[in-house]
Amino acid sequence: MVLNDDDPSLAAALDPATAVAVIGTGAMGSGIAQVAAQSGHTVHLVDAAPGAAQAARDRLGTTFERLVAKGKFTSAEATKTLDRLVVAESVAALPPVGLVIEAAREDLATKRELFGDLEQRQPAAVLATNTSSLDTSAIADGLRHPDRLIGLHFFNPPALMRLVEVIHGPHNATDAGREILDQATDLVRRWGKTPVRCTSTPGFIVNRVARPFYGEAQRMVGDGSIEPATLDLAMRDAGFRMGPMELTDLIGQDVNLAVGTSVWEQTGRDPRYEPTDFQRDLVAAGRLGRKSGNGVFAYDANGIAQNAHADATRAATLSAAESPVVTNPVARTLAMLVNEAVDLVARGEATAEDVDTAMQLGTNYPKGPFAWGQEIGFDTVADQLATLDRAFPGGRYRPSPALRQRRP
Ligand SMILES: NC(=O)c1ccc[n+]([C@@H]2O[C@H](COP(=O)([O-])OP(=O)(O)OC[C@H]3O[C@@H](n4cnc5c(N)ncnc54)[C@H](O)[C@@H]3O)[C@@H](O)[C@H]2O)c1
Repeated sequence: MVLNDDDPSLAAALDPATAVAVIGTGAMGSGIAQVAAQSGHTVHLVDAAPGAAQAARDRLGTTFERLVAKGKFTSAEATKTLDRLVVAESVAALPPVGLVIEAAREDLATKRELFGDLEQRQPAAVLATNTSSLDTSAIADGLRHPDRLIGLHFFNPPALMRLVEVIHGPHNATDAGREILDQATDLVRRWGKTPVRCTSTPGFIVNRVARPFYGEAQRMVGDGSIEPATLDLAMRDAGFRMGPMELTDLIGQDVNLAVGTSVWEQTGRDPRYEPTDFQRDLVAAGRLGRKSGNGVFAYDANGIAQNAHADATRAATLSAAESPVVTNPVARTLAMLVNEAVDLVARGEATAEDVDTAMQLGTNYPKGPFAWGQEIGFDTVADQLATLDRAFPGGRYRPSPALRQRRP
C-alpha cells in the first residue's frame, strides 16, 4: 500500500493480511472488530475511555466462548480469533495499519480531530468512518488527502447484519479515491457482508428511504384515523416483520426521532421528513418505548405490550387494494417509500438495485421499493401521491418527477 504525500495516487490491495485499527469500541466498534478478526485480520482496538478497549476485548472473548458452545467455532478458532484482537493505549500507540475504522462518538468535531491525527500517524491507511448521520465530505474537509476517507456504515449489530453502506462524496472523485472505494467494497464483500454504494446524502439509503414507514403511521395514528395496534397488524399483513408502532417502541422513540430530525434538518427542513407531533409528544412525555416501559404501547416486565389490541376486520378493510389511499395505511406508506427511493436514484445518489438490496437487508422489508413500484405501477404511485398532496398540501406528498418517467 502506497498512499502518502509522495505518491497519493497508488493504493494496494486490502486483504486479510492488512492490519486494521478500530477507534471507539462501543456497540458498533466492538462488533466491527469482531467481523474483521473473524475474517483473519489483526485488529487493534482504541477507545478514549480508560479500560474500554480491554472491556470490549473481554466481551468479545465471552461472545467467542458462546459461539464455541453453539458449535459455530472450535475452541482453537476462538483462541486464534481472540489473539488477533490487540488493545492499544491510544491512536499514538498504534503500529502502522492498512485500514482504520472509526466508530467513536457521533460528533463532527470529534471525528475531524481524530482523522486529522490519524492522517499524520497512519500515512498508508485507508480511513473509514462508521458515521450514521454526518456528511463524510465534512469529516474529510481539512485532510491533506481527503480522498483517503470513506464511509463504511455498518448496521447494528455488525456481526449479524449483512448490509454495509459504502459512502462517498465529491472528495473521493480522484483516481486514488475511486480505487480505495473499490477496494473497500471488495473487502466488505470478503467479510461476508453485502456492500451497497451511496453518496453522502442525509440518511444515506436506509435511514432516508425508511422515513415514511414511520412518518405515515404516526400521522395516521396521530389524527385518529386508525388505532396503533390495528395499523401494525395491517403492515404485518402486508409482509413487514413488525409494524411501525411496535418497531419504534423497540428502537426507542427518542432514537428514531433523532434520526428523523437529523434528516429533516440536513435537507433544509424538507416537509417530506418533518417529524410528527405524535412522536415529539411521546418523547417529551418520557414514553420512549420498551426501554422506559411505556411508548405507543405499555409494556410489562417481560417486554410484552399490554394495550395492543388490533381490530383485524378494520385492518383488512382499510388496507384493501380498493380502499382510498388517504386512509389506507399500506398503500399510503408504500407510495411514499417508492417515491423516496425513485427520487434518491433520480438524484444519482445510488442505483435502484442497491436501494432494493439496502432496504431488504437494512430494514428487513419483504421487498425493495423498486420491486413494489413495478408491482403497483409507478404511474399509480404518482396518482396516489397526487391524491395525498391534494388532501394534505404543503409539499410532503409531492411526487418525484421521475415517477412518471419509469416504465414497468
Ligand atoms: N448504534 C447504532 O445503531 C449505530 C449504527 C450505525 C452507526 N453508528 C455510528 O457508530 C458510531 C459509534 O456508535 P455506538 O453506538 O457504537 O456508540 P457507543 O457510545 O456505544 O460507543 C462509542 C465509543 O467511542 C468512544 N469514544 C468517544 N470519543 C472517542 C474518541 N475521540 N476516541 C476514541 N474513542 C472515543 C467511547 O468511549 C465509546 O466507547 C457513531 O458514529 C454512530 O453514529 C451507530
